Amino acid sequence: METTLASQLRIYDALDRPMRSLRISVTDRCNLRCQYCMPEDDYTWLRREHILSFEEIATLAGLFADLGVERIRLTGGEPLLRQNLSGLVRLLAGDCRIRDLALTTNGLLLAGQARALREAGLQRVTVSLDTLKPERFEGLARSGLHAAVLDGIAAAREAGFGEIKINSVIIRGVNDDEIPSLIEFGRRFKAEVRLIEYMDVGGATRWSMDKVVSRAEMLRIAGDRFGPVRALTEENSTRARDRLRAPAERFVLQDGTTFGIIASTTQPFCRSCDRSRLTADGIWFLCLYGPQGTDLKALLRSGAPQRMIFQAIRETWEAREDRGAEERKRVSARGVLVPLERLRQDPHQEMHTRGG
Ligand code: GTP
Ligand code: 5AD
Ligand code: SF4
Repeated sequence: METTLASQLRIYDALDRPMRSLRISVTDRCNLRCQYCMPEDDYTWLRREHILSFEEIATLAGLFADLGVERIRLTGGEPLLRQNLSGLVRLLAGDCRIRDLALTTNGLLLAGQARALREAGLQRVTVSLDTLKPERFEGLARSGLHAAVLDGIAAAREAGFGEIKINSVIIRGVNDDEIPSLIEFGRRFKAEVRLIEYMDVGGATRWSMDKVVSRAEMLRIAGDRFGPVRALTEENSTRARDRLRAPAERFVLQDGTTFGIIASTTQPFCRSCDRSRLTADGIWFLCLYGPQGTDLKALLRSGAPQRMIFQAIRETWEAREDRGAEERKRVSARGVLVPLERLRQDPHQEMHTRGG
């Protein structure tokens, strides 16, 4: 495997946040229809000819690495729908500046691909799993293939992925009764479950504040079931979280089981945000909530010299002031973020296009 030895700059935005993490959405397509992300019957898809090739993605990723990015997460839509994803993993894993290469998947196709992804150099896998009940999965994700997700998690373990995380978005009246069983599932599978507050991101057209189960409530429910829940204060201390820049706060039960909570809705972490996202058609968004992105595909395909793209990325990051989730928290009558009509006109407002 060819290894890139180029060096890295470190750039900071207007709020002194470094650019360290890039989420690359490799497709806007998904084979599930999770209620919190893709609840509609039909969608406006990105144009096929606009989708970046693996070589184009790797070129852009290299420029981001030049500017300090050292963590890449492949996402979607459902990233495993992209043909031969392990080919892209191999390209990215060859850059030694990318010290963390991870994947977020719904798990449906993971059993068939886990080994190839691991061999190609993928380091970590996060699987979305919001319920342990197959019949509930049908309502929540419109699929009868719950067992395939569980097989995918098992296959990831067998393929040698040491760190497997489970993402569970908790919605009141839908799966909030499963908080204890999801934590127990994590204990059994030695995977860290992260309970995620339902977010009012673009695409969440059924969102309302009363459906959000807050971090505080999640902790109360866990405490009622398992006894004292201790925050992993070392991990969660401002310094450590700042260093890790991870959105999850970690907690431990008396028996040593750990789990995380991602409180993007009630306790946003914008102050330490070091991430941005590239859509499958090469639009670069700084914030999950940002209205507009920068069209890096247009630059790339215009034949602009790489130095120019590098400069565009640098200037855009250095001017960045986004605090999307914090601003949303200040809205008093908080409702759906992007109306359906606008989502239809501009799929780039969708979470499944920007990368979940
Ligand atoms: P690691 O800690 O590296 O494993 O990654 P992660 O926790 O960033 O990754 P993951 O993709 O699993 O993200 C978990 C959830 O956090 C997402 O599904 C979102 O709900 C939320 N989230 C991720 N990125 C952002 C972000 O940039 N802003 C906000 N507000 N929430 C985010
Ligand atoms: N709220 C919270 N998380 C969401 N995701 C997608 N939509 C939402 C939302 N409305 C995240 C989930 C899922 C990942 C693919 O995207 O964590 O696991
Ligand atoms: Fe970063 Fe925007 Fe998410 Fe805040 S909402 S953490 S600024 S991406």
